[in-house]
Amino acid sequence: MQQRLSGRVAVVTGGASGMGEGIARRLAAEGAQVEILDRQPADTVLAAIRAAGGQADSVLADTTDEAALAAAAAAVGERHQGRIDILVNNAGILSERKPWHELARAEVERFLQVNFMGYFLTTQAFYPLLRQSRAGRVINVASRTYFLANPGQLAYVASKGAVMGMTRVLAKEMGPENITVNAVAPGMIATPGTREYSDEAAFDRVMQNQAIRKRGEPRHLAGLVAYLASDDAELVTGQMWLCDGGGYLL
Ligand SMILES: NC(=O)c1ccc[n+]([C@@H]2O[C@H](COP(=O)([O-])OP(=O)(O)OC[C@H]3O[C@@H](n4cnc5c(N)ncnc54)[C@H](O)[C@@H]3O)[C@@H](O)[C@H]2O)c1
Repeated sequence: MQQRLSGRVAVVTGGASGMGEGIARRLAAEGAQVEILDRQPADTVLAAIRAAGGQADSVLADTTDEAALAAAAAAVGERHQGRIDILVNNAGILSERKPWHELARAEVERFLQVNFMGYFLTTQAFYPLLRQSRAGRVINVASRTYFLANPGQLAYVASKGAVMGMTRVLAKEMGPENITVNAVAPGMIATPGTREYSDEAAFDRVMQNQAIRKRGEPRHLAGLVAYLASDDAELVTGQMWLCDGGGYLL
């Protein structure tokens, strides 16, 4: 594996499971010192990264809790001389399908809170550390459902649309500090989160509509994230990257 990220410090939210786990493992394999921020313990992922010769640590925090985020940023800053280089906002919740007119206000707010506000608050909390980097990177995990506009997923789709809006504005606001900000949008990938709502046949059906008929795995998205985090992507910012085997063509 190339060591494009050696010497970089990367924070991955939601890195204890699914997509975030895949991203944390890949960034560590490319030499980054990874900090997993999750509301559940990440011990299994940490052990796997360390067993493979990588460096990783973790902080417990909920991304919607500002006090917990401040404590997490302080702990990470202490371990890495007040600097991080890469922030991957990934901690999010998936949704079942429900007609928009049956959605309670609290349900819509929950998606906006976790999937959008969580990214916003995490980015604010780590910004002082990120601006100490010579090549800062913010990578937001969005979703292609924004483009598919899936009926029954209004709250989820709206929260991911807000992430894309944030990505575009932050790219311009952070550009002068040499920080790039991009969004990545996976197709449907089997994780503990998606398995709650979809059976194996559903993943296969999605695959049949792709140009490349392979089941998406967290490692596919992780490869794209590693590229965006690397020096190769120094002039790439404010973009939305689909990683779905050509299921939806922009
Ligand atoms: N799996 C897919 O098909 C798919 C497709 C498009 C987008 N996404 C996005 O990818 C991201 C990860 O999804 P996944 O499929 O890996 O889900 P997952 O449920 O398997 O993992 C999510 C992780 O995030 C953590 N988390 C959730 N809310 C949190 C919070 N408020 N604070 C801290 N940690 C929190 C969970 O503890 C868990 O470890 C989400 O943002 C999701 O919307 C997933």
